Amino acid sequence: MCGIIGILGRTAVSERLVDSLRRLEYRGYDSTGVATLDDGRLERRRAEGKLRNLEARLLAEPLGGDAGIGHTRWATHGKPTEHNAHPHATERVAVVHNGIIENFRKLRQALEEKGATFASDTDTEVVVHLVHSYLLMGYSPQEAVWASLPQLRGAFALVFLFNGYRDLLIGARRGSPLAVGYGNGETYLGSDAIALAPFADGISYLEDGDCVVLSREKGVIRDANGAVVAREVLKTGGASFVADKANYRHFMAKEICEQPDVVGRTLAHYVDMSAERAALPIKLPFHFSDVRRATITACGTASYAGAIAKYWIERLAHIPVDVDIASEFRYREAPIRKGDLAIFISQSGETADTLAALRHARDKGAHTVSIVNVPTSTIARESEIVLPTLAGPEIGVASTKAFTCQLMALAAFAVAAGAARGEISASEERGLVRELIEVPRLMAAALACEPQIEKLARTIAKTRDVLYLGRGTSYPLALEGALKLKEISYIHAEGYAAGELKHGPIALIDENMPVVVIAPFDSVFEKTVSNMQEVAARGGRIILMTDARGAAEAAVEPEATILLPDMVPTFAPIVYAVPIQLLAYHTAVIMGTDVDQPRNLAKSVTVE
Ligand code: F6R
Repeated sequence: MCGIIGILGRTAVSERLVDSLRRLEYRGYDSTGVATLDDGRLERRRAEGKLRNLEARLLAEPLGGDAGIGHTRWATHGKPTEHNAHPHATERVAVVHNGIIENFRKLRQALEEKGATFASDTDTEVVVHLVHSYLLMGYSPQEAVWASLPQLRGAFALVFLFNGYRDLLIGARRGSPLAVGYGNGETYLGSDAIALAPFADGISYLEDGDCVVLSREKGVIRDANGAVVAREVLKTGGASFVADKANYRHFMAKEICEQPDVVGRTLAHYVDMSAERAALPIKLPFHFSDVRRATITACGTASYAGAIAKYWIERLAHIPVDVDIASEFRYREAPIRKGDLAIFISQSGETADTLAALRHARDKGAHTVSIVNVPTSTIARESEIVLPTLAGPEIGVASTKAFTCQLMALAAFAVAAGAARGEISASEERGLVRELIEVPRLMAAALACEPQIEKLARTIAKTRDVLYLGRGTSYPLALEGALKLKEISYIHAEGYAAGELKHGPIALIDENMPVVVIAPFDSVFEKTVSNMQEVAARGGRIILMTDARGAAEAAVEPEATILLPDMVPTFAPIVYAVPIQLLAYHTAVIMGTDVDQPRNLAKSVTVE
């Protein structure tokens, strides 16, 4: 994980480095640092904690220089302290790194035996000492980096700055993303377009194994074999993305409220509103009728979107679907046959496990379809087919609007597949599309329950554990509800299929245990009512999320009922996502946690 930036500027760079780090904070935020060539000499400032600590440090001890590198960290090796913060440096070279150097112990031992003194507990520091050792042997900076790279195992994006070399930055990528930016007499390196867009007119994405040597005038890129290669330069239009909370207290609150709009925008991309038909935005290189099975692979919230889509795709298109967590899929040797359909879901499009799973499926000859929110991301670029979600930049670390946009894209995909395979008739397709068209309005109506949820959050904030239950598509939503609550409020929560309760978790039920039951009035509602009764009989405190019909037929007296709009329940998870997000959000606000940047997390998980 971590965000990296490098600038060869025409003017002082320290402020711009910090500005880029602010845009990269979503990649990690437990410590930050910058290094510049101040008067040609390597100098650095680092700070534990959020970027504001580095800013304070720079105010007290400014850094001059028109060449520099910066880093925002999500700790993998070594605690998030100042001495573990990047850049890591010797007197000759400094480096910032995103990824993990897996063989760092061996390298460190060898370097220490040769006399290197390490100042941190990180894996990264071996890189700087390794390059330094070649510089001592008389290698040029380019030669020293080139000699070091083959010795590194693992994933990395690296940017180097060399003492005394005012017109030189070297970048290298293997596994982690790195982009080169070109501006007016300036050049840049950064983790993504968001970091570079305000300065660069054009951006090239390095391919795996590439190494770039930058001066202010040009970049020379070599591939893993050492051949000079050209990488396409994409115009950025100078677009600079400014994260803006508008009048909201947190990005997460803004992003929850934006959902009717962005889900509507995504819907419009996937259906022909006037014909009331599903219309995927791209021609597929296969026929749905040839698809024998599909896999959906993702991590975290995105995997729960996939688990919900499994119900839709199996029911509407009769395609058997396996849902996998990407970190498991990669290593369990799941059989994949040529022509299988492999779907990958990722907001960031950079999640390391999902990317590796995609490459694995691609190598086995599967058709790879990715559902991503960042169209320039590595997953998008490496997929055969990209189905975008139009959520816009999601800044809050806890995913909200990206999740519901993923659900909308997947719902339309399921309808399109069902229609193409003849599993649903044209009139059924129109009916389903009409249901989808209703969703943004229903989400807006669901937002009206916020004051009630805010009150309810006061009681949740006093508890230690919360259970979430659901059946059918509400089951993966229960998992998502529990994840959302624990990641931002730090209250322990678990999601279960309601029918599983009696197979173990029922032992947890007592008068202190809130049980959030997600139960739209659907075909399994009555079964869920039986499970609620089991909870009620043991004194559990039921918080029921349902519609008017469900509330009337619940047959138990919940502690609270969150009343959601009446709807045909097929696509209810997209609407019911709203109250579960609001409940997590308001509980976290009451608990006083850092809602947008919860502890230990990062928005883009680019390490295994
Ligand atoms: C939780 C959350 C994470 C992400 C997961 C995958 O709120 O956001 O669980 O869903 O890290 O990230 P992407 O979708 O970027 O691949």
